[in-house]
Amino acid sequence: MFSDNRLARRARTLSTQMPAPHFPSEFGEQTILFDSGFAAPQLLPDLAAHAANALTAHRDEVLQYASGRGQPYLREWLATWMNSDGCALTSDHILVTNGAKQGIDLVCRLLLDEGDAIVVTAPTYFTAIPIFRHHGAEFIEIGQDAHGLDVDALASALDARSAAGKAPPKFIYNIPEFHNPTGATMSAERRAALVALAEARDIPILEDSPYRRVRFEGPDEPLLKALDRSGNILHLGTFSKLVAPGLRIGWVAAEPALIARMIQLKSEGGSSPLIQRIIYDFARSDAFPAHIARVQTAYCERRDAIIAAVKHELPGTLIAIPDGGYYVWLTLPLPVDGDVLAAKAGEAGVHLIAGSRFFAGSGAGVPRNHVRLAFSFATAEQIAEGVARLGAVYRSMAG
Ligand SMILES: Cc1ncc(COP(=O)(O)O)c(C=O)c1O
Repeated sequence: MFSDNRLARRARTLSTQMPAPHFPSEFGEQTILFDSGFAAPQLLPDLAAHAANALTAHRDEVLQYASGRGQPYLREWLATWMNSDGCALTSDHILVTNGAKQGIDLVCRLLLDEGDAIVVTAPTYFTAIPIFRHHGAEFIEIGQDAHGLDVDALASALDARSAAGKAPPKFIYNIPEFHNPTGATMSAERRAALVALAEARDIPILEDSPYRRVRFEGPDEPLLKALDRSGNILHLGTFSKLVAPGLRIGWVAAEPALIARMIQLKSEGGSSPLIQRIIYDFARSDAFPAHIARVQTAYCERRDAIIAAVKHELPGTLIAIPDGGYYVWLTLPLPVDGDVLAAKAGEAGVHLIAGSRFFAGSGAGVPRNHVRLAFSFATAEQIAEGVARLGAVYRSMAG
């Protein structure tokens, strides 16, 4: 029996439970999944020709050890892509990662010591919470509204912290568009105010922007990274939400001196050069813009379907309508408890996530009147059936 006291201190609090079923195929056919941000299978692009090309024309490269910082051509392409979105980057500002999640981990490795504080929105991306926690972070939770993170509340929290003689937070983690879980997008004014505040207080921002191109309507707001004058903004991007999550390729865009350090912290020997070559080849083909348009149209239809179904089946629930992304966030009326609703819906074969899981804090302060529904994976028929089942559970609880 392996004794727990041989574990690293920070590993001792990790759960020993094996993760619950994960692949859609592990659930019965009748189960409807609104829980995780899986891509729609119908939208996964056909990459076979790009893979064949990578394995023939570029075999020497793609079956070799990768560059620790990412293949030069992909870094160059990513810098140009972000520059077309208002940034001023070179390929030295880019580190290719195994998804945005690895980017979060690398930034934590780079910036956090045990006990350091970070700012997160309340609620925030729930998968990031254990990563931050594992690096010993303490959370300063800041509320948000339809325009995103409440910058005035953040300024007050920072003032209160400094008045109490506490060190400033090490960074502000934020998801400016189509926030996970709320769907909110920060207005241009809010973005400018956040960047100005962070710059004035010399606090880095970690901008996590996986859904940027999954926009259904309205103009783009500026990337926080595009507003960066101080070099204090670290940006996370990914191909997971736009192309395919199984590729596991994302990137960090930051000052070259930070990238140079993160390369040394990225211990797996570099992200797969085969996958990087496939993505690069796909991204430069005519199929890429057509794919983006298809993704935007299809997810927009699913969003509209889930909103219509929720309005019909869950009367009294508030639903924030996102302009893009994968999720809708519901605010439930009393006495409906989001944790109980999610558990009972699971028994009825509809999986969704209780809103309380998206709060970094714990205990009595965590609101229990929310649930998050992902509309990315389920078809229109499944959305109708799943929300109808959810509605039956809801009505039995709402009385
Ligand atoms: C806000 C946010 N960041 C990061 C990720 C994960 O991205 P990746 O698949 O690139 O690790 C997700 C996926 O759901 C997300 O919603």
